[in-house]
Amino acid sequence: MPDSIIGQPLDRIDGHAKVMGRALYSADHSVDDLAYGHIVTAAIAHGQIKAINTAAVRKMPGVLLVMTHENAPKQTPAPAKAENRHARPKPQLASAQVQYFGQAVALVVAQTPEDARAAADALEVTYARQPGAYDLEAERPRAYDPEGGDSKVGDVETALSRSPVRVDATYTTPYQSHNMMEPPASVARWNGDKLTVHCAVQLVEAAHKSIADTLKMPPEKVEVISEYIGGGFGGKLPVYADAILAALAARELRRPVKVVLTRQQLFHLTTHRPASIQRVRLGAEHDGTLIALAHESYAQSARADEFSEPVVSSTRSLYAAPHRLTTERISALDLPVADSMRAPGEAIGLLSLEQAMDELAERLRIDPVELRLKNEPKEDPEKKVPYSTRALVSCLQEGAKRFGWDRRQAQPGQVRDGRWLVGLGMAAAIRGNFLRPAEALVRLDSAERAVVEMDMTDIGTGSYTIFAQIAAETLGFKVENIDVRLGHSSFANTPGSGGSFGASSCGAALHDACRKLKARLDAGEGAQGLSEIGRVEPGDDYKKYSQYAYGAHFAEVGVDVATGEVRLRRMLGVFEAGRILNAKTARSQLIGGMIWGVSSALHEESVLDTRFGSFVNNDLANYHVPVHADVPDVDAVLLDAFDSHANVLGSKGVGELGICGAGAAVANAVYNACGVRVREYPITLDKILPGLTKQSG
Ligand code: MOS
Repeated sequence: MPDSIIGQPLDRIDGHAKVMGRALYSADHSVDDLAYGHIVTAAIAHGQIKAINTAAVRKMPGVLLVMTHENAPKQTPAPAKAENRHARPKPQLASAQVQYFGQAVALVVAQTPEDARAAADALEVTYARQPGAYDLEAERPRAYDPEGGDSKVGDVETALSRSPVRVDATYTTPYQSHNMMEPPASVARWNGDKLTVHCAVQLVEAAHKSIADTLKMPPEKVEVISEYIGGGFGGKLPVYADAILAALAARELRRPVKVVLTRQQLFHLTTHRPASIQRVRLGAEHDGTLIALAHESYAQSARADEFSEPVVSSTRSLYAAPHRLTTERISALDLPVADSMRAPGEAIGLLSLEQAMDELAERLRIDPVELRLKNEPKEDPEKKVPYSTRALVSCLQEGAKRFGWDRRQAQPGQVRDGRWLVGLGMAAAIRGNFLRPAEALVRLDSAERAVVEMDMTDIGTGSYTIFAQIAAETLGFKVENIDVRLGHSSFANTPGSGGSFGASSCGAALHDACRKLKARLDAGEGAQGLSEIGRVEPGDDYKKYSQYAYGAHFAEVGVDVATGEVRLRRMLGVFEAGRILNAKTARSQLIGGMIWGVSSALHEESVLDTRFGSFVNNDLANYHVPVHADVPDVDAVLLDAFDSHANVLGSKGVGELGICGAGAAVANAVYNACGVRVREYPITLDKILPGLTKQSG
């Protein structure tokens, strides 16, 4: 289709507004008479607040309100278990109990942000500290199975014991913080008994329910608006203290209140990726055929809120092996709340599995790409259903060709470039594809102009642009004549941005609305004011087929022969994610995911002080993320595809695919460069150096 609009690499339609500063993010909403709230956070991880000395602070300049558990309005209590974690009540300052370090213990509201912060800093809080459980390894005896979700096929123990070639390795992955560019922020204002909250969230519908239920309000009296969002990555799936406290304080003071989390606060007050300890066991024939595959994960959960990262989910589908075992265990620690972060499950599961596959390839003396080709399944090995599409083989072959994989030396430590030992590594990418129920409203202004309304968000991914493309193509209109409006809770209900399901779910609902409108136009109805609601539901094809997006990563790194410093030199990912809705935004997303994978391999870690239950490197000077100099040459290539089982558009999610496996490719390249195998992420130079010294000594 030469004139297809869907798929074209269009620039973001909101790009101009963003660079001109006209796109208002939550904290940019400066309404009249605005007051500023600053959150005071707990200085202990577990215990009780004994006293809060508010008298002195109330007298400080500009202070309007000091809210603590002693005077906070009654809210709906948090349920012990909720069906939808992100839509449940999030009461704040509900009691004297402290459940984790950095929890909100007070809100100080003042005339200016400076006054609020100064007063918040001066607030004296005393605590009765209780012992807590902070160390994942130490809590292992109390690990439990969160949902009975083990998978077992055949007899893995016997098969492993009979396998001629085996790998049995344990990998650890650290705590990580989402650290999106825009910290969570809220501006709340009341008009009579109606509340409006400008709030940086990925899931507007869930936030709407969460805020209304917490404040015991009828949903129709609450509006949540999230038009522009500076990144989310899972860190804005729930609402936090900023939204609830801004709403409560604004009601109390009868004036609008803004609350913005500081960069330091978000390390504890928002969710994070839990640390994990993973054991992978592989058993193979001499020719590389896998006989047995076991992947057992143990990860952190929070006492305050259960979450089990689905670490082994993609291991259940990636390779053929007749005998299989996957398990997930968690411990409830007195730490901040763990929740989803970009590709929850695959991102850290593949750091282990795909490094173990590299270790197996070496033991077998088989090329790592060959080993994967050898174990390509004919159907999903655990669900026993066909794949909707599966392009792992094409991704591996195309990537190997483009990257020059044939130049890799199987023996580590063979290639030298000045002070750098140079190595190549690869890994597979796999990410589940999902569809969620969604609705879209389309209204025609004329025979050539349309307005689209959904409560979907654009967290920086390009949602505005792809919806304009889908509507334009389906209606036969020009892209610039589509007005896409997102992020208001009063708009049509969608699942929001999460799990890489947003573009496909909302896109399919939008396509449905436009198709209906087009039919009415073609039947001769007058255009003006004509509107339709489109809908989509995941059908049987999500049960009858195993649906994933795929890719293959190839990385070249240098390891400094004297210091063990690792530098990425170049990286390529080749991906298949069904039909691509916008070649430019999809490629950018995949590259962003790959860079985060590099970061998981080499840089990123929230360092936990297990004595106090707090993350100690809570700013961007000490929490290392890649900067320009860390990312010299990264490219993503998308294969042409269409998954007719996924949805009417043929598209699959790309937002999380890029990170899946990327870090393992880097880890494998480090090994190939210098012969040191580090199984404890991130692979920092202190972990490489002892192995390097041993070799040269
Ligand atoms: Mo995603 S980790 O569901 O934003």
